Order: sequence, then C-alpha cells, then structure tokens
Amino acid sequence: MFEVVATRQLSESVFETTVRAPAIAAKARAGQFLILRVDELGERIPLTFSDWSSDEGWVRFIFMRVGKTTHKLSHVGAGGFLADVVGPLGKPTVVDGLGRVAVVGGGVGAAVAYPVARAMCEAGDDVTVILGARNRGLLMLEEEFRALPLGALVICTDDGSTGRKDLVTAPLKELCAAGALDHAMAIGPAIMMKFCAATTREFAVPTTVSLNPIMVDGTGMCGACRVSVGAKTLFGCVDGPDFDGHLVDFEELMSRQRVYADVEQEAAADFESECACKTK
Ligand code: FAD
Ligand code: FES
Ligand code: MG
Repeated sequence: MFEVVATRQLSESVFETTVRAPAIAAKARAGQFLILRVDELGERIPLTFSDWSSDEGWVRFIFMRVGKTTHKLSHVGAGGFLADVVGPLGKPTVVDGLGRVAVVGGGVGAAVAYPVARAMCEAGDDVTVILGARNRGLLMLEEEFRALPLGALVICTDDGSTGRKDLVTAPLKELCAAGALDHAMAIGPAIMMKFCAATTREFAVPTTVSLNPIMVDGTGMCGACRVSVGAKTLFGCVDGPDFDGHLVDFEELMSRQRVYADVEQEAAADFESECACKTK
C-alpha cells in the first residue's frame, strides 16, 4: 500500500496527488511515469511524474478526471492509500545538449512539460515554454513555470481569456520561421502533438513527442502500447514514451486510443450509478 500524503484540486477536472514512495522517488527522472492501481480490483493506469523528492521520499502526479479510474483516484485524499504504484517506467527524456528548445505543453500535458523544462534548464538548454489551454481556468502550473530560468513563457488559450488567443502551433511556427529553434518537444493530446510535428517538419526542426497509448503492464510484455514509428513497431512503455514526432503514425495512435471506448463508457456509467456522482 502507498500512502497519499497530499492532494490538490487544480481545476474542475484536474487533480494533483503526492504519494510516499521513497524507492521510486530515488530513481525518478523527467519524462518517466508510474503505473498505479487505486484498489485491489482496479485497473492499472499510467501517469507521468510531475515532480518528486528523493530526499523526502515522495512522487507527485497530475491527472485529469476522464473516466472511472481517474474519478476513483480523485476521491483518495491525504491519509488514504493506493493499492500499487510501480515505477519509474519508460525512458527518461533526453535533456542534454539540445540548445534552443521549445517545450510545448497542451492541457494536462503541462504537468509532464514542467519537469522536462526544468531538467532542460538545469542541463543548460535555452528553453522557451509554450503552454496551451482551452481557457484561463484550465491553465496549470503557471507560477511553477515562471519560477524556472526560461528564455520565454508563451501562454495560449482558445478563448483569449489569458495570454494569446491562438493555438500553440502559432508561436511554435514563429520560432521556427525565425530560425530560433534547434529542437522542439510536444507533450499533450495526440492531435496537438500531430500538428506540432507537422509545423516543425516544414522547417526541419527535430521534434520529440511524448506518446500516450493505452498501457497495461508497462514493461514490454503485453503489446497493448505498440506504436508505429517510421518503419518500426515499437512499445510506448519501454521504447518511449518519447519518440521522433516526424516519424509517428498519429492516425493509428488515435484510433488505438479509442479501441475500448464502449467498455470505458459502460464502466463510467456503472460507476456513476454506484457513487451517485458524475465521471466527467
Ligand atoms: P477511461 O474512461 O478508462 O479512459 C479514457 C481514455 O483514457 C481512453 O479512451 C484512453 O485514451 C485513455 N486510457 C484509458 N485507459 C488507459 C490506459 N490503461 N493507459 C493509457 N491510456 C488509457 N493522464 C493524465 O491525466 N496525466 C498524466 O500525467 C498522464 N500520463 C500518462 C503517461 C503515459 C505514458 C500514458 C500512456 C498515459 C498517461 N495519461 C495521463 C493518460 C491516463 O493514463 C488516462 O487518462 C487514464 O488511464 C484514464 O483512465 P480512466 O479509467 O479514468 O478513463
Ligand atoms: Fe504492455 Fe507496453 S504496456 S507492452
Ligand atoms: Mg479506465
């Protein structure tokens, strides 16, 4: 059992949970993730580290409530317990020697982008962060990003309630066109990563994306997370989650992400009737 030591609600549907897990915290690196089960009968879900402390022995993740398991997780408060937490899983993000890099975080992807941008700053890269959200209320970790020694922080919202009223691809394209980028990293919904990769491809700026295929074991055994990258079939959990965005087959990724949509909707409906609350 893993004790939850703190929780925070960041917006209507986004939550932050901190779990005591000294052995995992000792090894966690930016871009890696954990797999947890809320309770003994629960499914396994992957979530990326948003932060950790090896000195204090905790790991932290930020998640969006999208279905049954994330809803159950949002009910586990400080002092509660999670049945299992396994990690760190996946390969750490390469942060050294990237030069002038743009890190694009869309939606809950900002949670993953934060430790990545921090590690890139520590490695001496010149980092511009571009954050995208539907509106001001859904923007997350702005203060934490502002505390980093970034070259620039650009905020985009769909409705213009804060920052630029633009998609994240607009400032990304401007940086590419100005010859101001040696590398880009995109983290967020598959569709956003697809368009970021299409934007940078035009300017031949190497681009890493952090993929989120459905995962089960997280150790390369089940094949649930397979993705097509160039001519290769690779496993998101052990070969990634980071891949060359110019080679990823995003259409296949998005179609495989929806493969259990019917079962997930049924599970959400059952859960809503059991606990008398909404999963979305
Ligand atoms: P469901 O209703 O079961 O599913 C909703 C959607 O979530 C599905 O259509 C599918 O696209 C996705 N999903 C469902 N089950 C899985 C699964 N086992 N593995 C992967 N995706 C699944 N989300 C965050 O909010 N924060 C994170 O930091 C984060 N990091 C991730 C890191 C990795 C490497 C991966 C692969 C996914 C990550 N996700 C993250 C997505 C998160 O795992 C899903 O939102 C979660 O599993 C949904 O579970 P659910 O039962 O609440 O929703
Ligand atoms: Fe099973 Fe990757 S999750 S092989
Ligand atoms: Mg689920």
